[in-house]
Amino acid sequence: MEQELIIIGAGKFARETVWMLERLVRQGDRTWKLLGYVDDTPEKQGTSVYGLPVLGTVDALLSWPRDVWAIMPMGTCGGRRALAQRLAQASHLHWATIQAASAVTGKNFEIGEGSLLCENTLCTVDVKLGRHTIVNVGSTISHDTVLGDFVTVSPGVTICGNCEIGDGVFLGAGATIIEQIRIAPGIVVGAGATVVRDLTVSGTYVGTPARRKE
Ligand SMILES: CC(C)(COP(=O)(O)OP(=O)(O)OC[C@H]1O[C@@H](n2cnc3c(N)ncnc32)[C@H](O)[C@@H]1OP(=O)(O)O)[C@@H](O)C(=O)NCCC(=O)NCCS
Repeated sequence: MEQELIIIGAGKFARETVWMLERLVRQGDRTWKLLGYVDDTPEKQGTSVYGLPVLGTVDALLSWPRDVWAIMPMGTCGGRRALAQRLAQASHLHWATIQAASAVTGKNFEIGEGSLLCENTLCTVDVKLGRHTIVNVGSTISHDTVLGDFVTVSPGVTICGNCEIGDGVFLGAGATIIEQIRIAPGIVVGAGATVVRDLTVSGTYVGTPARRKE
């Protein structure tokens, strides 16, 4: 059954998501009918991006006249969490869960609502992703790893086996998390960092091995 889909935010990641969705449709997936975007930026009202209209501000979704599905392709964990809270009362709004045409997932893969697996991602076996979690292009997640809700995995991240990544964790581009690591909720890992010990104290960690930035 075809479902009407609106993209929240009409920015650069939204453009990548449109491309991703068009590839899914070309591959034969007829699930989604793309209506356009909602975006709070005044200058974007009435414009179009990749031929799809900006339909109004995010609040337009609160009074949408029929069932509609939405996705939030934006990198900031807190931004997605705030929008999910803002839209929580809209009972006709459903969160879309999207796996790109080239995303590969193994046995016992689980993915929560609103999550997005981008192109060329690989989740091997027994991987679980929470709600509104984004795995960006070219990232790899290995066996028995669990990601919480509102996690952002930037492009080219490697998460080895048996890891536990807490809610709202941000992993910068190209970060590597070795096996059996736990990262506490809300922690930021900088681009290119190598995490070799559990990260339990909140903050931003950079470098190899990753250390907390003062
Ligand atoms: C770690 C990060 C969050 C820090 O951001 P910030 O707090 O604004 O830090 P600043 O840019 O002010 O830099 C502060 C210091 O940390 C260093 N630093 C910043 N990021 C670093 C990184 N990833 N690795 C090592 N050092 C880093 C800077 O060189 C600077 O050092 P200095 O004080 O000796 O000059 C950010 O640099 C980062 O890596 N973000 C990830 C970006 C990303 O992957 N985006 C994906 C887009 S799809």
